[in-house]
Amino acid sequence: MSDLWDVADIGLADAGEERIAWAERESPVLCMIRDRFLSERPFDGLTVAACLQVTAETAVLTRALRCGGAQVWLAASNPLSTQDDVAAALAASGSAAVFARQGVDIDTYYRHIRQVIGAQPDLVIDDGGDLVDLLHAERPDCLTRVIAGCEFTASGITRMRRMAAAGVLAFPVAGLGETQLMRVVGNTCATGQSVIDGIVRATNMLIAGATVVVAGFGPCGQGIASRARGFGAEVIITETDPVRALSAVLQGYRVLPMLAAAPFGDLFITATGSRDVISKDELTLMRDGVILANAGHFDVEIDIRALADAADAVRHHVRPHTDEYVLAGGRRLRLLAEGRVVNLVAAEGHPASVMDLSFACQALALAWLAANATSLEPAVHEVPAAIEVEVANLKLAALGLEIDASTPAQQDYLSSWGRDGH
Ligand code: ADE
Repeated sequence: MSDLWDVADIGLADAGEERIAWAERESPVLCMIRDRFLSERPFDGLTVAACLQVTAETAVLTRALRCGGAQVWLAASNPLSTQDDVAAALAASGSAAVFARQGVDIDTYYRHIRQVIGAQPDLVIDDGGDLVDLLHAERPDCLTRVIAGCEFTASGITRMRRMAAAGVLAFPVAGLGETQLMRVVGNTCATGQSVIDGIVRATNMLIAGATVVVAGFGPCGQGIASRARGFGAEVIITETDPVRALSAVLQGYRVLPMLAAAPFGDLFITATGSRDVISKDELTLMRDGVILANAGHFDVEIDIRALADAADAVRHHVRPHTDEYVLAGGRRLRLLAEGRVVNLVAAEGHPASVMDLSFACQALALAWLAANATSLEPAVHEVPAAIEVEVANLKLAALGLEIDASTPAQQDYLSSWGRDGH
């Protein structure tokens, strides 16, 4: 281990470069922004501490920030999703100081985050909120230096809002996870596809004809449900929010409490952002051979301790990312990805062409924060709409697509309150 990296095998760098090159080809917008940053240098003299899923897509973002003048320190935001070859490529090329190895234990996971905080960052980027949490809890001495941060996930934004409400959050944060682009394209399309991708890679199961129980009908749950239905599954939704539940009913889904759905499902997918959504009571009712997967950021949606307590035996790695819990009477419940976020552990997370949009917004939001943080309250802020519009326009142009422009008469009409446009 050098002072500037802790990666599994620095010799994997060439393989990592191949993987990054593949992601770059799918990331025209982020590459355009990277090239612009070379002359604009929005991060000159600034240190960025990032806690992100260490994937090829994150590497493209890291290099864009580096081209903008930032010194980047990168730790993993998930102990299982790190692509070791990508981590090696970033470290070997000097693009970032990298502290990420696939499969580390929880102590090493936090040690890596502490190492990037130790760089005394001016800006932070988080995915889930663990970096921001540790920074406030353990290193108040570093807080005065931090001018702003970005948070990628809805779960992390919720955490930071609670910190702001408690008067604890020390700097402004841009909430990437709440942009329209992230909600619609990221959560609905990309999570929907990649969660099914992870489950199929891990199990080789046939989705057609299966009964799939999706817990949560937010943007991620909607995406998962529609993709599962598209593959021919019968989909049951569970919800705690009556409006979302009604919306699921009106889209033709069967809606049940989890306890009532438990005996029917072949595959259970949690996407709620909450905890203990599948608990001992439901586990007791499930059929032999059931698959359990979590799409939420934290590994608390399925009560894994209850599962372990209920099991007479656990057979680890019966397939990659699949552990089999054998319950009394011989029923086997199969837990994917140790209950962590299945699309990033068993597959590759959001496809690069989607991360192109998310990370282009992230890069521009960070540049906006670097320039404007002093005028922002320590709270969670929306990413300016102009950034989303710019990113969407650049993506449409990269795809060779044109759209209509409003005429002046239409703009007048849309900005007036009278029926005839006065
Ligand atoms: N979050 C979801 N998908 C991701 C990806 N491919 N890379 C980095 N972070 C992600």
